[in-house]
Amino acid sequence: MDVYGLIGNPVEHSLSPPMHEAGYEPLGIDARYVTFEPGSDAGASAVEAAQTLGVSGLNVTIPFKQDVLDAVEADELAARIGAVNTIDFTDSSPIGYNTDAVGAVRALREHDVEIDGTAVVVGAGGAGRAVSFGLADEGMNVEIANRTVEKAHDLAADVPRASGHSLNELGDLLASADVLVNATSVGMDEDRSPVPADALHGDLAVLDAVYSPIETRLLKDAQAAGATTVDGAWMLLYQGVEAFEIWTGRDAPVAKMNDSLRARL
Ligand code: ATR
Repeated sequence: MDVYGLIGNPVEHSLSPPMHEAGYEPLGIDARYVTFEPGSDAGASAVEAAQTLGVSGLNVTIPFKQDVLDAVEADELAARIGAVNTIDFTDSSPIGYNTDAVGAVRALREHDVEIDGTAVVVGAGGAGRAVSFGLADEGMNVEIANRTVEKAHDLAADVPRASGHSLNELGDLLASADVLVNATSVGMDEDRSPVPADALHGDLAVLDAVYSPIETRLLKDAQAAGATTVDGAWMLLYQGVEAFEIWTGRDAPVAKMNDSLRARL
């Protein structure tokens, strides 16, 4: 039996185990997906331990996404982002990937959103960083707006075709934007949006990285404005689908994984 897992702290409420395990049976894969909660300074040593124990693949979440860089060979995108969320132990040395970036792009694309023109990314933390690189690598211009404006400028300096802004500029930025991504935690378990409702319009596609609640205040406002909306569970799904495909080398049973995820939201 193959063992896959997630390291993070905390991980007890993670939806990754049921999502991944829903993908094994349809493909006849004999595997389990388990969670591990190392101490907050033990991310890199947990990766070494997993390799020693013959674990096939690990996902990595907060607070270890940067720490594990020391314990893996990061692929080019993960190295540029500076964070790893997926580790493959198939080769003699563990390879680190970042599927958050591609997951966001794929969530949009699967909803027929054209990845072209200008994207506004709200948030310059870990999620904002991955999403900004993902969209820029697809050729989009990326306008990064953040509460702490210096962090937006710092991130924009690393990302091709990007610039940094304050949240006050969102109205102007969105007027000519094609895609909006909320990569802040605003709206998580609260009825609040990081974007003024009157800045939204019908030519936008809006992806919210927040998936609790599934229909956030931002997505409700976006729907009312006639925008295309993509909820955060799609982003969670596709970062998992990408990891599944790296590990197994097979097309993931996306519908099954999605059903399992949504049944728990
Ligand atoms: P993650 O890895 O999930 O992105 P993070 O690195 O802690 O988490 O980043 C959280 C993001 O949400 C940041 O962009 C943060 O803005 P600051 O850089 O100014 O802290 C943003 N954020 C959190 N609470 C916010 C709030 N109340 N209003 C606006 N932005 C907020």
